[in-house]
Amino acid sequence: MEGKKRTFSGIQPSGDLHLGNYLGAIKNWVDFQDEFDNIYCIVDMHTITVRQNPADLRRRCLEQLAQYLACGLDPEKSILFIQSHVPAHAELGWVLGCYTQFGELSRMTQFKQKAQQHADNITGGLFTYPVLMAADILLYQADLVPVGEDQRQHVELCRDIAVRFNGIYGDTFTLPEVLNRKAGARVMGLTTPNAKMSKSIPEGCVLLMDKPEDIQRKFKRAVTDSDTERCVRFDPVAKPGVSNLMQIYSAVTEKSYDEIEAEFEGKGYGAFKPAVGDAVVERLRPIREEATRLLADKVYLESIYKSGAERASYLANKTLRKVYKKVGFVAR
Ligand code: TRP
Repeated sequence: MEGKKRTFSGIQPSGDLHLGNYLGAIKNWVDFQDEFDNIYCIVDMHTITVRQNPADLRRRCLEQLAQYLACGLDPEKSILFIQSHVPAHAELGWVLGCYTQFGELSRMTQFKQKAQQHADNITGGLFTYPVLMAADILLYQADLVPVGEDQRQHVELCRDIAVRFNGIYGDTFTLPEVLNRKAGARVMGLTTPNAKMSKSIPEGCVLLMDKPEDIQRKFKRAVTDSDTERCVRFDPVAKPGVSNLMQIYSAVTEKSYDEIEAEFEGKGYGAFKPAVGDAVVERLRPIREEATRLLADKVYLESIYKSGAERASYLANKTLRKVYKKVGFVAR
């Protein structure tokens, strides 16, 4: 693995994985597997920044791991682990928090949004969330962080913290960059084509574990556009609904927009929507079946997350030891 750039990314087990997570993130991670040296985390410590039901959180963590595997992440090629299994994340997070300004954290857009959504529970953890994320990335000396645009500000803060620390103590951390996913992977809600697909709007959100009939129903009810043209044409401004469906169809079938326009020429939205539903059903079927099979095999899942945590800890502790020494802690 020497010489390859390292990627690090994570998804919170805050809800069941959906088509947006798959097409926007996990599918790309699978595609990167040979090109980069990859570390993919289930960031359960981030998830408790808002209140969780403990049993649900535990179930979703294991399901997420089974789904990572079922989507094609190969534990031989990528380190897959659960964040809370590697204590170095919390430990580096504490140190980095002492090199992060209150003002910087106050400016984070996601904090401001979440503070509004959870006005009765604005915790220190919610505020320092980006510091823990910086620790995630810097512990592994990651070069590239494949995340969506909504996380760019956090990665930039992570860089600022790293630059500051390196400036005081000499070269310690690799400066990470956002790895832009390919155009066309930002999946919007089926009922809200102007907002990202999200579990908070269940009817517009296709879960990886949804049954075929549920997937079909959601696509049949997908919002299309009220333009008079009523033909399948890619135009995200004038036709956000149809363009979102085209993007999904293109991502699951590998067909280009031109091919899709030709395929549905002269056929209305009524033919297009179920066709997208069918394609998604077929794409997700093996993933759902494999995830279900893996979830029944707790011993195997345990062996994956244990060995993932061991390999991650080895790398993380190397960085943590350097940092502890630089800031002046007495060696254990
Ligand atoms: N904050 C990210 C999100 O909500 C999840 C995350 C946590 C993450 N730590 C990370 C992503 C490190 C990339 C790298 O999407």
